[in-house]
Amino acid sequence: MRVLGIETSCDETSAAVVCEGKRVLSNVTASSLSFHRRYGGVIPEIAFRMQLDSIAGVCDCALSEAGMELGDIGLIAVTNGPGLSGSLNVGVNFAKSAAISAAIPLTAVNHLHGHIYANFLCHSGIRFPCVALIVSGGHTAVYYVRDCGDMEELGSTADDACGEAYDKVAKILGLGYPGGPVIESRAAESSGKRGIKFNCSAPGSKYGFSFSGIKTAVLYYVSGQLRKGPLPPDMINDIAYAFQEAVAGVLVEKTISAARDRKTAQILVGGGVAANSRLRREFETRAAKPGMKVFFPEKRFCLDNGAMIAGLGYRLYRKGSVSGAGLELQLD
Ligand code: KG4
Ligand code: ZN
Repeated sequence: MRVLGIETSCDETSAAVVCEGKRVLSNVTASSLSFHRRYGGVIPEIAFRMQLDSIAGVCDCALSEAGMELGDIGLIAVTNGPGLSGSLNVGVNFAKSAAISAAIPLTAVNHLHGHIYANFLCHSGIRFPCVALIVSGGHTAVYYVRDCGDMEELGSTADDACGEAYDKVAKILGLGYPGGPVIESRAAESSGKRGIKFNCSAPGSKYGFSFSGIKTAVLYYVSGQLRKGPLPPDMINDIAYAFQEAVAGVLVEKTISAARDRKTAQILVGGGVAANSRLRREFETRAAKPGMKVFFPEKRFCLDNGAMIAGLGYRLYRKGSVSGAGLELQLD
């Protein structure tokens, strides 16, 4: 079965055609990122207006790259939350109209479950139950996963999401938006020899996280340095390095400890921050000793994309999940 997947939960408009939940025939994404950059974060009003303009073209493009027309599609899968309500409405209403007008079944997919499913697009041999870590711009949480779409939250962030912390720290350092990729590349330039250290613990929470404290610590450190003069570029690199080390350390430690407690040797990581090479390396190093296997999606499937929604939609539909014109948003 060929599935058209539509994802519009944040600033991207993405559509993909995926065959049997696995083979990606196309995956097309239009981003309004350049319009948000000057504001240092996503402006919901701009995002959904751009999505209204681009949704039809992006879906057409995904179909034509896959060599298909709407009539060749057996199922439409769409993200119905969590995310920005205006943005989600664009995707959901477009999907409803396409499904009803072409008499194609429709299924709703949870955005976060989609990020975890992205691993199934890229790997074989994943077994349930396992533990998953979602690290995105809006969410950071550890889950016990019994099956596709059947996830129990074990712990989450008490304040900012991890990607949000990357974005805020990049702003403090004057590195622009989005923060993840630029912090990663600036940290890679650091020798770490200044020995700057930040703490990213969440005391009292076994699998929970907190990122607002480390953001404030970076802010105080930078303000203190700015009183002496402009930050030299190599100091910016060292701050980015210290921030990233602390964040990667806590994400890996808590996820591995959840996997150990739940007696599973498999971990799935998903979401925008899963694209981070330092996080991947830290997981691989620390999971080796307890003999755990950590899966990451290919980098192109870490950020919001239609392929993960089409893939998971197919699995859910096979289990009987069908929606109709009454499909509603699930904002959290
Ligand atoms: O999952 P995603 O595309 O959107 C949401 O669902 O939120 O994640 C976007 C987030 C942004 O905060 C961005 O800074 C972060 O993912 N990100 C990264 C990297 N690439 C994107 N964070 C760390 N390292 C990266 N390489
Ligand atoms: Zn996402």
